[in-house]
Amino acid sequence: MSEKATLSLDGKEYELPVIVGTENEKAVDISKLRAETGYITYDDGYGNTGSCISSITYIDGENGILRYRGIDIAEIAEKSDFIETAYLIIYGRFPTREERQEFNHLIVEHELLHESMRNQFQGFPFHAHPMAVLSAMINSMSCFHPQLLEIDDESKFIQATARLLSKVRTIAAFSYKHSVGQPLIYPTSNRSYTENFLHMMFSAPNTDYEPDPDVVRAMDLMFILHADHEQNCSTSTVRMVGSSKANLFTSVAAGVSALWGRLHGGANQAVLEMLMGIHERGESIPQVLAKAKDKNSDFRLMGFGHRVYKNFDPRARIIKDACDKVLYKLGKKDPLLGIAKDLAEAALEDEYFVERKLYPNVDFYSGIIMRAIGIPINMFTVMFAIGRMPGWIANWKETQDNPKGRIYRPRQIYNGPAKRSYEQAKTPFLD
Ligand code: CMC
Repeated sequence: MSEKATLSLDGKEYELPVIVGTENEKAVDISKLRAETGYITYDDGYGNTGSCISSITYIDGENGILRYRGIDIAEIAEKSDFIETAYLIIYGRFPTREERQEFNHLIVEHELLHESMRNQFQGFPFHAHPMAVLSAMINSMSCFHPQLLEIDDESKFIQATARLLSKVRTIAAFSYKHSVGQPLIYPTSNRSYTENFLHMMFSAPNTDYEPDPDVVRAMDLMFILHADHEQNCSTSTVRMVGSSKANLFTSVAAGVSALWGRLHGGANQAVLEMLMGIHERGESIPQVLAKAKDKNSDFRLMGFGHRVYKNFDPRARIIKDACDKVLYKLGKKDPLLGIAKDLAEAALEDEYFVERKLYPNVDFYSGIIMRAIGIPINMFTVMFAIGRMPGWIANWKETQDNPKGRIYRPRQIYNGPAKRSYEQAKTPFLD
C-alpha cells in the first residue's frame, strides 16, 4: 500500500499522498491542501518545498552527490565535454554521432550575431556590468528570432537551443571587448566551443590568442560543472517565467538576472574580491573567521555554505584539483590561492562552520582558475551563465512539456493593515 501522511486540522484528519522519487526521496503532496482544508503551507525561502517533478538532475546534499540524467558529475567531468554534456542535459540522452555532428554544425552556424544586435553594444556605457549586458542581449534575441517565440515542434526547439548555446558566448565575449574599448573579435568556425570563446575574449586584430589545451580543458570543465543544479534560484526563475508560457529567450534572460546576485552566481566574483581585500589589508585568517562569525557584521565567508550540500560540494572537489593543475601548468603562484587554502583549512576545523555544515562550494575555487586564465573579475558570473545555459533550457522545456503544467503562482500570508478606509489611513498625515 502506498505511504500517506495524516494531517490533523481543526479536529479533522486529512490524508495526503506521498510521492517517492527515483532515489527514494519523499515528498508530501499538498496540491489539494487549500481546496480541501482552506489552509496553505508557509516555507520562507522554499527550503522544504518541491516546486516540480523533474528528471534532469539529482542532488543528494547530505552525501555530496550530483548527477546529470543519472550520471555522476565526476564521471561526466572526466569523460565528456561541455557540448555533449549540454546535449545530455537538454535532450535526456547522449547524441548519436550524426546528431552530435548536426548539433555542432548548428552551433557553428549560429555563432555570429545579427548586425543590428551587434550595434546594440555601442548603446551600453563602457562601465556597464557584463551581466546586465548579457541579460539585456539575451532578452533581445526574442526580437531577432520571432519564428522561435512559439516552440511547437522539436526542430524549432533545436534551432532555439543551438542559437542560445552558441550566441551566449559571442555576446559574453563582445560585452567584455566593449567594456575594455577593444574591437569585437569574430568567432572562427574551426575552433571548439570553448576555444572559440577564449579566442573571442583574448585575440585582438593584431594578435591571435593561441590557448593552451589545458586552459581550454579547464574552462570547458568549469562550464560542465555549472551546467545544471536542479531548482536553484535562477533555474526556478526560468521555470517561473516559462510557466506563464513566456518564450525561451526571455525566460532564460530572467535566469541570467537571478544568477547575478552575490548569494547565487555572483558569489564567484565576491569570493575573489574577498580574497583580494584580505590580501590588501593583510588580515590574518583568525581575524577573517571572527568577522564571518560575528552576527553584528554582515560579512560572510563567500564561497562557503550551500542550501543543499551539507557535507561537501562535489563540484568544489573537482574544481580544486583542476585549479591546482592550471596554476602549475601556467607557472602561476597566486598569493590568493594560498589565502584561500589557509582559509578553507581553518574554517573546516572551526566549530562555527562545522556545526552549521558550511563547506567550500564551487565558487570558492572557480574564481582562482578564472583569474589564472585571465578572465576579468566582472566576467566571472558571466562564465557561470554560459555554463548554466543547458540547465535553464532543459528546465524551461520541462515546464512546457508538462501536460498538467500550471502557471507558478505561490500564495502568501498577509500581515499588513486590516481593512480601513481611505480617510482613516490619511488622517494621521493631515496637518
Ligand atoms: N559565512 C558565515 N556564516 C554563514 C555562511 C557563510 N558563508 N553561510 C551560512 N552561514 C550561517 C548563517 O549565518 C546561519 O547562521 P545562524 O544559524 O547562526 O543564523 C547559518 O549558517 C545558516 O545560514 P543560512 O543563510 O540560513 O543558509 P542558507 O541555506 O539560507 O544560505 C547560502 C545558503 C549559500 C546563501 C549561504 O551559505 C551563503 O550566503 N554563502 C555565501 C555565499 C555563497 O558562497 N554563495 C554561493 C552558493 S553555491 C553557488 C550557487 O548555488 O549559486
